[in-house]
Amino acid sequence: MSIIILGIESSCDDTSAAIVRDGFILSNIISNQDVHKSYGGVVPELASRAHQQNIVPVVDRALSDAGIPIESLSAVAFTKGPGLLGSLLVGTSFAKGFALAREIPLIEVNHLQAHVLTHFIREKGEKKRYPDFPFLCLLVSGGHTELVVVRDYLEMETIGRTIDDAAGEAFDKCGKVVGLSYPAGPQIDRLAKSGNPQAFRFSKPQISGLDFSFSGLKTSFLYLIRDHVKDNPEFIKQNLPDLSAALQSTIVEVLIEKLVSASEETGIQQIAIAGGVSANSGLRTALEKHAGKMGWKIYIPEIRYTTDNAAMIATTGYYKYLKKEFSGLDVSPVARFPI
Ligand code: KG4
Ligand code: ZN
Repeated sequence: MSIIILGIESSCDDTSAAIVRDGFILSNIISNQDVHKSYGGVVPELASRAHQQNIVPVVDRALSDAGIPIESLSAVAFTKGPGLLGSLLVGTSFAKGFALAREIPLIEVNHLQAHVLTHFIREKGEKKRYPDFPFLCLLVSGGHTELVVVRDYLEMETIGRTIDDAAGEAFDKCGKVVGLSYPAGPQIDRLAKSGNPQAFRFSKPQISGLDFSFSGLKTSFLYLIRDHVKDNPEFIKQNLPDLSAALQSTIVEVLIEKLVSASEETGIQQIAIAGGVSANSGLRTALEKHAGKMGWKIYIPEIRYTTDNAAMIATTGYYKYLKKEFSGLDVSPVARFPI
């Protein structure tokens, strides 16, 4: 009999549901929340309300697109954390009610583990390469920047993490300074394509070991803008592509430097990236360049699976189902949830 998992993701500002059958993805529906655009970041109260509105139609679409009758589901997997508590509560409560009503197992999923397991989202007929264990994954998103040693599907260890802002946060906060809407990361990526990365220099963090820090870079960016705008009010408008290119190349340099150190320290040469910032074209190009130099075998996710999605939750749920790792109905979400 087939194993069919419904996955639910609601940790931040995307409501998503997906169906995975025997490890293969059948549908992945994502409803983005435009309501946060003008606020320069996600407003938690608005996010949970939007999840509440979206969750039923999103799950309904995921089932109908997959052509799966509700009675065929083997289990429901949901994001337990980390994330915004009010947002997580919507997905968790829905999943619990669903599991209870259908009398099927409930599976809690760590959102970070799921981002890493993006590399095992399988589609029928595709010719993708999958990483062998162990591999090293740079997980870069709006909330996280971590270096993870992946020993098996559900056996991971974080060996480096940000001590302040995440890489995506650096993109978004600097973008806000120059008047870009949230999330600024993709816009900076686009603007950087026509800019000169050498036009400006920002201070790079000096953190030893495998940890990251991005708050100093944000301050350095802010001060440079403030100083120039004093003399020339048109400075941002005239220099946006160059500012974007310089900011992006600094962030990418920091990420790649730590990735090189992690690979040298662990001796692991299979390198993957995951999370929203792994969509960044500068990071993707830099990784490809280093692969040749370092002898790395690299794994870059498809753009549509870089940002939050339920395909990664259902996939993780599938591997947990195989190990019978089920949760009780008293499970509750957590804002902090290390790998
Ligand atoms: O993984 P994700 O959807 O949510 C979290 O779990 O945080 O990541 C969202 C983050 C945002 O900070 C967004 O600006 C960033 O990923 N992002 C990008 C790009 N696409 C998304 N940053 C840089 N370049 C991109 N192309
Ligand atoms: Zn995420």
